[in-house]
Amino acid sequence: MSELVRLSDVTKVYQGGITGALNGVSVTVEKGEFTAIMGPSGSGKSTMLNLIAGLDRPTSGAVIVGGTDLAKLGEAGLARFRRDHVGFVFQFFHLLPNLTALENVLIPAQLKGSEVPGRARELLGQLGIEEVADRYPARLSGGQQQRVAIARALINNPTLLLADEPTGALDTHSGEQVMDLLVQLHGRGQTILLVTHDAKLATRHAARVLSVIDGKVVDDARLEGPERAASEVIRVRTEEASR
Ligand SMILES: Nc1ncnc2c1ncn2[C@@H]1O[C@H](COP(=O)(O)OP(=O)(O)OP(=O)(O)O)[C@@H](O)[C@H]1O
Ligand SMILES: [Mg+2]
Repeated sequence: MSELVRLSDVTKVYQGGITGALNGVSVTVEKGEFTAIMGPSGSGKSTMLNLIAGLDRPTSGAVIVGGTDLAKLGEAGLARFRRDHVGFVFQFFHLLPNLTALENVLIPAQLKGSEVPGRARELLGQLGIEEVADRYPARLSGGQQQRVAIARALINNPTLLLADEPTGALDTHSGEQVMDLLVQLHGRGQTILLVTHDAKLATRHAARVLSVIDGKVVDDARLEGPERAASEVIRVRTEEASR
């Protein structure tokens, strides 16, 4: 495997923030890894994902993705980086209500100037929802909307798939379906960074769990088969810290 993401002593202090949202985080992610980021509310998980996505810039330290130091990119370069390399899935889907499922999936491709309706339909098919292609988001269940959002995140073949609490707004069954999809994508080589509060989901599906507390990575566990049982320890520790 080769290195895809490197955070080097990354600190993020938001305007008006007294303490850093991230405090000197150094971590690397290999190509093809499925990594879960866990931690209590406010610990800095979304901040970490947003910095890797180039949606925001660190206060200090370096974010390097695919060998590119994101600090070297201007705003236009950063927008191009996001378009070409990052697929982002959010908790609340963020589909455009006045576009059909298919049209939503096509948005990132159109930003690139490519017309790929066939591929968009194919993706919806792979995600098991081809039949909703021409429906508007208001007529889709939460699980269907999230699968449309995943298809939209995948349409430009992103180097990195970033998902911030993608199951947070879903019932257990739909959440499991979405997780199964992420596992399948990982099986096909997709690099995935998943933020979740749900220790069971994280440890059952991801091969690596980063635990973040107070803006610091306090644990980095690679889980293989039976070792995943040991991850319970992390869950307990993280839950205790969030009390
Ligand atoms: N845009 C912002 N402006 C100011 N402070 C922010 C901003 N975004 C996040 N923060 C603060 O930074 C810290 C980390 O926030 P972050 O959203 O990264 O946490 P999180 O781990 O994703 O939490 P949650 O699990 O609740 O989503 C928090 O103290 C939060 O209040
Ligand atoms: Mg968050």
